[in-house]
Amino acid sequence: MTATASGSARPAPRHDPGPPPAVPDLATLQQRAAARAAERAGGRDRLRGHIVCDGLVRIFQTEGVEVVALQGLDLVIDRGELVAIVGASGSGKSTLLNILSGLDTPTAGIARVAEYDLLALSNRKRLAYRREMVGFIWQQTGRNLLPYLTAVENVELPMRLARRSGGRRDRRERARRLLDLVGVGHCADRRPGQMSGGEQQRCAVAVAVANDPEILFADEPTGELDEATGAEVFAALRTINAELGVTIVVVTHDHAVSGQVRRTVAIRDGRTASEVRRTARVTADGGTELVSEEYAVLDRTGRMQLPAPFVEALALRDRVRLDLEPDHVEVRPGDRTHAEENER
Ligand SMILES: Nc1ncnc2c1ncn2[C@@H]1O[C@H](COP(=O)(O)OP(=O)(O)OP(=O)(O)O)[C@@H](O)[C@H]1O
Ligand SMILES: [Mg+2]
Repeated sequence: MTATASGSARPAPRHDPGPPPAVPDLATLQQRAAARAAERAGGRDRLRGHIVCDGLVRIFQTEGVEVVALQGLDLVIDRGELVAIVGASGSGKSTLLNILSGLDTPTAGIARVAEYDLLALSNRKRLAYRREMVGFIWQQTGRNLLPYLTAVENVELPMRLARRSGGRRDRRERARRLLDLVGVGHCADRRPGQMSGGEQQRCAVAVAVANDPEILFADEPTGELDEATGAEVFAALRTINAELGVTIVVVTHDHAVSGQVRRTVAIRDGRTASEVRRTARVTADGGTELVSEEYAVLDRTGRMQLPAPFVEALALRDRVRLDLEPDHVEVRPGDRTHAEENER
């Protein structure tokens, strides 16, 4: 199981009791999301481990060649969290999202979302899982919306397919409310071709939460957009997280985006390698500032990955020396081998 020296999710201390800021800060949004998620789940004690991956493995077989896309990935995400996943191309981000959204099946390990064991889903249960539990947003704007339906019709469609209770008028009302929430109410009666890329992606966010899923997955939802437009789409995700308490996992290459979440998980070679957590801290003048701290991820058996710059800086190779100090562990270059000594 993933263990990190976690930054506590303290609310941002407020010193000025005046009106709340127009754009709530990260800590306030996270606090609101956790409260909404707890309401949905029936209590705070059920926040832990909404998504649990332990030793998750996915091996692809193509023409006799094996590709190990995930090699023992550990990850725990709590209810109401908004987590960014980053990592180099081919590191396994999409593979992870496809498994967690029920589109693909893992080869081995544990993948559990709420009460669903993703390694042992019957076809019927998988369909129910995908319909009721998760929403998904693809990178390609064209893949998220039907081109011949208006925005409001696109949002209504999943509700119709799931035979959501309530009549046509209820569905339309909910669809318009969701479009308003993500800031594209003005596009309700337009078709995707009459909307900008960013508007289409925000509409896709509304479509993805139409059936009130517990979790929303987004695979590079801002990948085809410029920075400013991407920021608007990301703001829509944050609003959905804070207002509806939906747990959100978003894969992104966009550094600006990963700077706007409290927790960023980096995947390297099919494993979680490190995490950045941002916490609010009170400054000397009584304001608050966000502090980013990077943690290495320690797995259940005590393995961790050193960041590449650390390894390079000390030319660490093959073996390292570990020394236990009262409050930390020291890592030093190990002895050189006999052959290396002879080379010198
Ligand atoms: N269906 C498949 N068949 C065979 N190999 C696959 C398949 N899907 C992914 N892979 C391989 O698994 C590894 C992880 O791929 P994945 O798509 O998860 O990476 P990614 O982190 O999403 O990369 P990117 O940032 O480029 O989207 C890659 O080596 C990829 O080639
Ligand atoms: Mg990918």
